[in-house]
Amino acid sequence: MTLPQDIQSSAEDYMDSQTHSNRPISSILIIIAMQTEALPLVEKFQLSEDHNSVFPKEVPWVRYHGVYKDLQINLIWPGKDSALGVDSVGTISASLVTYASIQALQPDLIINAGTAGGFKAKGASIGDVFLVSECAFHDRRIPIPVFDLYGVGLKQTLKTPNLLAGLDLKVGKLSTGDSLDMSMQDEASIIANDATVKDMEGAAVAYVADMFKVPAIFVKAVTDIVDGEKPTAEEFLQNLATVSAALDEAVTQVIHFISGKCIHEL
Ligand code: ADE
Repeated sequence: MTLPQDIQSSAEDYMDSQTHSNRPISSILIIIAMQTEALPLVEKFQLSEDHNSVFPKEVPWVRYHGVYKDLQINLIWPGKDSALGVDSVGTISASLVTYASIQALQPDLIINAGTAGGFKAKGASIGDVFLVSECAFHDRRIPIPVFDLYGVGLKQTLKTPNLLAGLDLKVGKLSTGDSLDMSMQDEASIIANDATVKDMEGAAVAYVADMFKVPAIFVKAVTDIVDGEKPTAEEFLQNLATVSAALDEAVTQVIHFISGKCIHEL
């Protein structure tokens, strides 16, 4: 029987997605917003910078790539803001690089790794590394029915029970917004999101990953205690280098665990 072309190709797409989960993961996309977090991993995995960028020439995004433990690794750092020279943190760059990287690199799995603020009332301490169970936004308040839910943008992450059992990571929910500090309104939304960690990229990466049905996991290391006494920016900068080392160690363990496994084995 010959199927019409469009039905046949969607059946093929479906079968493709099925076989996907039954073959070992081969291509991983790691998205990391800050250079300090990214460079130790570039060194550890002996990745090389791509000088013939897969991205448009205008963007500051940097791709490091290589093969590590039989995995094709692409690590994307959104680079420095071209006008101000600081890391392009936040949801706009995160969603753009996630979109462009999925298009160009067709990864089997996305890992968004980075630092985060943690809530001691929810069990977070400086240096803890969390595997995120779900992501949502806390600064997109739209008090109109259904738009309110769209604003929160709740996304489940890939369920990885074996990875969790194999590694010494905490589990918690992540809330994302475009500010390092926390207004009272943000705080109320973060509490409503039941979040243990707070970052500036996760839910944006999750939004795009979900759009293209690419499984995604989120590894977040705590640099500052949001509900503590110290000013956030000061505590963040003070702990950034040491906590980045803990983050990179955790990401390395995650990569070792993933090597040779299928998505459904994680
Ligand atoms: N990254 C590290 N600390 C953070 C915080 N307190 N808020 C948002 N992103 C962060």
